[in-house]
Amino acid sequence: MNEEYGHEPDVPLQSVARVSVVYNLKKQAGSDEPDDKYEEYDPIATVEAVADAVGAYGFSVSLCEQDDDFAARLAEQKPQFVANIAEGRGEARGREAQVPCFLESAGIPYWGSDAVSMAVALDKLLTSRTLLCDEIPVPLCACFKQEQDLSQLPTLFTERSRFVVKPRYEGSSKGIFSDSVAHTPDEAKEKIRRIWGRYAQPALLEEYLPGDEITVGIVGNGRPSVVGMMRIVPVEQREEFLYSLEEKRDYLKRIRYEGPESIPTSVRDQLGRFALKAFQSLELRDMARVDFRLDCDGTPRIIDINPLPGLSPEYSDLPILHRLSGGEYNDLVRSILRSSFSRNGLAFPARGSR
Ligand SMILES: Nc1ncnc2c1ncn2[C@@H]1O[C@H](COP(=O)(O)OP(=O)(O)O)[C@@H](O)[C@H]1O
Ligand SMILES: [Mg+2]
Repeated sequence: MNEEYGHEPDVPLQSVARVSVVYNLKKQAGSDEPDDKYEEYDPIATVEAVADAVGAYGFSVSLCEQDDDFAARLAEQKPQFVANIAEGRGEARGREAQVPCFLESAGIPYWGSDAVSMAVALDKLLTSRTLLCDEIPVPLCACFKQEQDLSQLPTLFTERSRFVVKPRYEGSSKGIFSDSVAHTPDEAKEKIRRIWGRYAQPALLEEYLPGDEITVGIVGNGRPSVVGMMRIVPVEQREEFLYSLEEKRDYLKRIRYEGPESIPTSVRDQLGRFALKAFQSLELRDMARVDFRLDCDGTPRIIDINPLPGLSPEYSDLPILHRLSGGEYNDLVRSILRSSFSRNGLAFPARGSR
């Protein structure tokens, strides 16, 4: 039944009639909240785009926000499968595992990685350690939890000349601003304290990787495959570039996305290999986006792994990179759905067959 263990199904595939899309809805931050508080959440247009793409296969699709009434609403909808795009509630580093845990406890199959992989991938320090164990290149990294940790700074600055200061478990470039590179221990201190104050979590200091930024999309399970990759290039060239919160919010003006043809073949091969190895190292499922920067020698290093990549057909990186490789949004959703159905022993219907 489960592809992960290599068993051929010897029971008939289950058919699915009802699917719920589970999500967190983007809200306006209150005047007493940081303005990026709900940055990771989705606008209703994205939820509807996912629901429409899933609905093309004839399922009865319901929308289910992960809010206070989540459990009761899900019990009413009785889904036989969940298309999960929920980032989770609150600020804890396990938040992306909330919906997977809940669905596991209720015995409802869902697309995407399981709770453990979700939680590890959100924590950039644990991710980096896991990848290192599998000899996958990552940047030099140090974690700062409290004032006394700041004493590591002078030594770190003898090893590298500049560092990105980022929150340990955020996404969507939360906490990464255009001034997040530190060039001296004093600058680093100030930026580390800014993360502590604003996000109430440890700060990571990561070696600044000066080369190209490239993100790689993966879909599948037993034999996952690369569905595209793209270079993320600032419209205005500059010596130091971060795909920061400000850049992401204003991507139409500030960013150019370039397809795989803009990446030398040898680098493309390395990116594909490292991305797939990372997918397997973290035991991910169905989909992921892996973010890289090239180091000063041109070696791709992984800075971030997203098992729950944004699925906005308009502005999310995975659909954009898939499009730049010639793919349509609905086909991307179909591949994710297919992969998950197969893993869960569910029958995948022909488009609109019900
Ligand atoms: N070590 C690094 N070197 C250079 N740029 C980095 C580094 N880490 C992060 N960045 C920049 O910051 C952006 C956001 O960081 P990332 O770790 O991907 O966090 P998020 O989970 O918010 O996407 C990246 O897309 C990249 O532009
Ligand atoms: Mg990223």
